[in-house]
Amino acid sequence: MTSSTHARAAATPSVTTPSHDEWIHADPKTFQDNFNRKTFEVRHTLSQHPAFKIPALVELAGRMLRNNPRYIHCDTETKLGVGDGGAARENKFLDVVNVMERIENAGAWLILYHAESDPMYREVFDHGLADIKRAIGHDIEDDIMEQEIIIFVTSPNRITHYHIDKNVNFLLQVHGSKKIWVFDRFDREVLTEEEIERNWTVNDKAPPYREHLQNHSTEFHLQPGTGCHIPINAPHWLKNDNNISVSLSVNFTYKDRCLASVHRANYFLRRAGLNPTPPGISPMKDKLKAMVAPPIMSAAHALWKMKGHKSDVHTNKMQ
Ligand SMILES: [Fe+2]
Repeated sequence: MTSSTHARAAATPSVTTPSHDEWIHADPKTFQDNFNRKTFEVRHTLSQHPAFKIPALVELAGRMLRNNPRYIHCDTETKLGVGDGGAARENKFLDVVNVMERIENAGAWLILYHAESDPMYREVFDHGLADIKRAIGHDIEDDIMEQEIIIFVTSPNRITHYHIDKNVNFLLQVHGSKKIWVFDRFDREVLTEEEIERNWTVNDKAPPYREHLQNHSTEFHLQPGTGCHIPINAPHWLKNDNNISVSLSVNFTYKDRCLASVHRANYFLRRAGLNPTPPGISPMKDKLKAMVAPPIMSAAHALWKMKGHKSDVHTNKMQ
């Protein structure tokens, strides 16, 4: 992988090669210094794994369609650009097998969530997670609510719009190449506190893409066997090269008390005219907000329902 660092982007430290029994690897000090704070490069050994060849993925899509269709996203909106995160997309998941079979010309973005629910992919999940947790160097089990692997299959030149995620993830390039631009999660020129709070509380539409700040990002040109770390709330967007791309994302979602409740409490405090403290600055305030946010969210959710609106206020499960 090549990476280029622009004016304000975090430096990308050097990487080392995975050892024989590691599937996912980054330099240990880099990992421990930057996990969930700054983007960094990782290496992996999954490109030769038979589970990620297109015929195996077509079979997986067919099994998921029968067993867990809600875990499939399949859209073929080829005209969407980097800043079109708020645009409605039609999810054609019923066509997933057909689209997968003609992926080269489908202009598609296919997402298979919770691939670990399929026994064939469970081993990848278990092994990959163990590698990552070992590299983090401290116990995160108590803080984790959910962990999953997601498989992305994209047609040549397809763009994945600018967005933020509510989980920590490692994006591993398995087949084909593509570029990803990752912004600093703490860069408030790129992403304001208000935009983060709204994303976590009211809806999860992508925050606005500011083209003039594109040079604040770190660019990775992902090749098979390479990948990068994407912290929570770190904006990013991707563009596939002129090839079919298969990527794997290993995700951790933190428990509500760790982050979501603080953003949500701040959303309501700001609406009340206050200027709330961002998460991570005052542990005592964060703890208090974590206690009060869930009942406020439930009340807001109930109020919306009472008014007959289709509520888009997030429940705790929807983070
Ligand atoms: Fe993402």
